[in-house]
Amino acid sequence: MPDESKGVKMKQRFFAALVTIVVLASLVAACGAPAPQPTEEPAGPAGEVEIFSWWTAGGEAEGLEAMYKVFSPRYPDLEIINATVAGGAGMEAKAVLATRMQAGDPPDSFQVHAGHELIDSWVVADKMEPVTFVFEENDWLGVYPPGVIEILSSGGDIWSVPVNIHRSNVLWYNKQVFEDNGLTAPASLDEFFDAADTLMAAGVTPLAVGDSGVWVDLHVFESLLLAELGPDAYRGLWDGSTDWNGSGVTAALEDLASVMEYVNTDHSALSWDQAAQLVVDGDAAMTIMGDWAEGYFKSVGLTPDVEFGYEPSPGTAGSFIMLSDSFGLPKGAPNRDGAIAWLTVCGSKEGQDAFNPIKGSIPARTDGDRALYDVYLQSAMDDFASNEIVPSLAHGAAASEGWVTAIGDAMTLFVADLDVAAAQAAMAQACVDSGVCQ
Ligand code: GAL
Repeated sequence: MPDESKGVKMKQRFFAALVTIVVLASLVAACGAPAPQPTEEPAGPAGEVEIFSWWTAGGEAEGLEAMYKVFSPRYPDLEIINATVAGGAGMEAKAVLATRMQAGDPPDSFQVHAGHELIDSWVVADKMEPVTFVFEENDWLGVYPPGVIEILSSGGDIWSVPVNIHRSNVLWYNKQVFEDNGLTAPASLDEFFDAADTLMAAGVTPLAVGDSGVWVDLHVFESLLLAELGPDAYRGLWDGSTDWNGSGVTAALEDLASVMEYVNTDHSALSWDQAAQLVVDGDAAMTIMGDWAEGYFKSVGLTPDVEFGYEPSPGTAGSFIMLSDSFGLPKGAPNRDGAIAWLTVCGSKEGQDAFNPIKGSIPARTDGDRALYDVYLQSAMDDFASNEIVPSLAHGAAASEGWVTAIGDAMTLFVADLDVAAAQAAMAQACVDSGVCQ
């Protein structure tokens, strides 16, 4: 072989070896070095997420806003659409929601009371997705009281995420008005009526009521039922073991008729928060309302135990009428991932500790930071831990929506005519119609 051709072959081998080395080296580099980074984070939930509620009054609106402030930095690509329909206890909002749900146009998530309001309506109608997986993924099963999980559950699944526990049976009073009239907070119904007579004689409206929505009458009525029946028989109203035709219900209706003699004349034109304002202004001495009234009082600058006082509504000490606001995941939510992000904040410690001190409620979780809660809310925490817990009629915990509506219809007539026998018969019939009573 001529030298020249040897040289060519050697050059060829040299180049072949060089190519091999370069290829091998680049393969090694490709395996060992970090893969090229995408310029953006993997996409999280994004877009608009519509949150539907009835929180528009003082305290309610600010509490909701506080929860949005926890949400937004966590999910910067999600934009909250705050869909509120004004009206205490959601009477108007629930009607709008029903229309939307039936039209297949659900919001991404909506406020719903834990208990029968949730289970007997949207869950049985197969309009909800279970949210058990949200509880499991966030390790929440151990941080909610078993009783709360129970009222959110049906058929082995959990159906909404609770944000709070509210107390219904609270009497709020203007401390200055009480002091001026030499009064202390009435513990019993007899003491209440004595105080009311004193206030009437002094020209002060004893009890502020804003029952432009009949739910407010039901709200006062549930406290009177509890006062007359006690916690066991009160519970029995909701499972058919207490007779709606019995003397306890008669007495509670008679009490309500008497109470209505001591209320502001314009009660049927006012909302619950306008009634609370009468107490703020000293135009009325007391109001019986859930502890969202505490959120209202604080929203207008008042401080518990300074300008306003609070007691269990007369005759109900030792019992806690509970209700819980929660949010659910409707089937067909336009932004399901966004809705799950919202539920994750609703159920979180941070979300609940931002919301509840402003809303006038206590966390549904057991690990809330007590130091963030004022003196009233700390007392509510203690009572929730030690009292007899009974469900609210007016706020969806005790009875199905249809049953509550039927009791409300009887109540609408009752506040107009104060006919105890007719109201009691209608309520007894409502229990039968609901399928609970024989
Ligand atoms: C209740 C609800 C509370 C409060 C109140 C007045 O039904 O649970 O959170 O909003 O209505 O609107």
